[in-house]
Amino acid sequence: MKKIVLILLFFWRSLTAGIPVYENGVVSSASEIASNAGIDILRNGGNAVDAAVGVGFVLAVVYPQAGNLGGGGFMVIHLKNGMNTSIDYREKAPLQSARDMYLNKDGDVILNLSTLGNLAAGVPGSVDGLLTALEKYGTMDRSIILRYSIDLADTGFLINGQFADNLNNYQKDFNGFASTMKIFGGHFSEGDLFIQKDLANTLKRIKEHGRKGFYEGETADLIVNEMKRTNGIISYDDLMKYTAKERNVIQGTYRGYEIISMGPPSSGGISLIYLLNILENYDLRINGYGNEKNIQLMTEAMRRVYADRSEFMGDADFVSVPADILTSKVYAERRMKDYSEDKASASTDVKHGEAYYRESDQTTHYSVADKDGNLVSVTTTLNDVFGNKAVVDGAGFFLNNEMDDFVSKPGIPNIYGLVGNEANSIEPEKRMLSSMTPAIIFKDSKPFLILGSPGGGRIITTVLQTIVNIIDYGMSLQEAVDAPRFHHQWLPDEIQVEKGMIDESRQIYLNKLGYKINYITDFGRVDAIQFFDDGRMSGYSDRRGSGKAVGF
Ligand code: GLY
Repeated sequence: MKKIVLILLFFWRSLTAGIPVYENGVVSSASEIASNAGIDILRNGGNAVDAAVGVGFVLAVVYPQAGNLGGGGFMVIHLKNGMNTSIDYREKAPLQSARDMYLNKDGDVILNLSTLGNLAAGVPGSVDGLLTALEKYGTMDRSIILRYSIDLADTGFLINGQFADNLNNYQKDFNGFASTMKIFGGHFSEGDLFIQKDLANTLKRIKEHGRKGFYEGETADLIVNEMKRTNGIISYDDLMKYTAKERNVIQGTYRGYEIISMGPPSSGGISLIYLLNILENYDLRINGYGNEKNIQLMTEAMRRVYADRSEFMGDADFVSVPADILTSKVYAERRMKDYSEDKASASTDVKHGEAYYRESDQTTHYSVADKDGNLVSVTTTLNDVFGNKAVVDGAGFFLNNEMDDFVSKPGIPNIYGLVGNEANSIEPEKRMLSSMTPAIIFKDSKPFLILGSPGGGRIITTVLQTIVNIIDYGMSLQEAVDAPRFHHQWLPDEIQVEKGMIDESRQIYLNKLGYKINYITDFGRVDAIQFFDDGRMSGYSDRRGSGKAVGF
């Protein structure tokens, strides 16, 4: 009896370890200021969608590394009435874009053209996406929601150490853009007051005119003028035509838990369900977290899923994506038929073709829950840190460099030694493939977990491991998020490992089987919310970042 009590106590402690528990709502984001704004919206009667939209606009002010008006994202929503939906506000290729636009006359990829400056920018989707979510599923007036971001841009906020470091580290990149230097140029220190008047005025136009305040009128003039002055191709037509799209969520199950996430143009939802379907056929608890056999198994699952991602996934409005097959349990089982514990598979054997997409490490995720059971999971991005590094002069925000998420040259290695394929080639108005994986998990149809992460191609495996850490390894939310991770993405054929994930003997074991290990530091920063059986909830923001989960 005593033993059972001790086990229960241990289990309860591990569930709640060190994290406050709340009844009325939680927001977990990359910025404490943004999380506080979201909580204020909830306290004032807003629902989780109101708060998520407010947080999105605030991140554009206080976390311009990835929070944005000039980028795009995905919002997965579960409403208290049981409805699941998602808003796709991924950027689109401009009307004047072309399949070979980043190649020189010899057919070689031109260095930096798809990453730096205005030709790298897709048509921004965030403003239309956030406003669409607010109009359809929010309850509050736009003017109330926008007030938080406007005040922070207008009167400023005190910058934290990480933002100061980011700004200082990117001065060389900013230097090529006078419009960026006006606002982001200089040396910054923690505690500096950061005011953004141009951005405040753009936000005021959005508050006043809704989507027309961004896609038409003065903001559109500023964007198009910026394009004309530089090498950009986004036109008035592009801006007028941009619309966010509401899409069905991708659904799956894992050991009795139900999962919803984002479908194409993100590869995230399909890949996550596909990975979980594979792992469900094995008992990970036998060997436990960090065990070399589990690392090997998960690596081989990742290898196969990323090979298929490269071959089959793109914007489903343009190419046919076999989502039903890729997320079926039968396919997952069949795909592992050639898996052997005795040696590493070789990526060249796993799939014909050598497709691979280069993706950046900088994106941001936030999770929101209210007291009524509305749940929102949002991942948003400019692609690289500070996007294309070029601020729209007079409008105060960075544009994205999301065009680099397309494949510049199908089948041929790009400047980073990577290759991609046809499904994700550039076409006017097509959305570039993403790895963003905003997810919501239910247990017995009740909320269990909201989570997501930045991290480019590593987003999917970061979300996967956080789920497995909780469901299979019984970790608390904090332990699950903070635990070191690993990643394999088919190509390059190596296991990318975070410090602390494996010890020397495990590395030797894996090396002997033929696995190459590469230590890297840049794993994504998860922002998550977990729910308990009594309906209460707690949130956690990854130790790797400087975000904060706030609740009440
Ligand atoms: N730009 C990163 C992603 O969408 O996956």
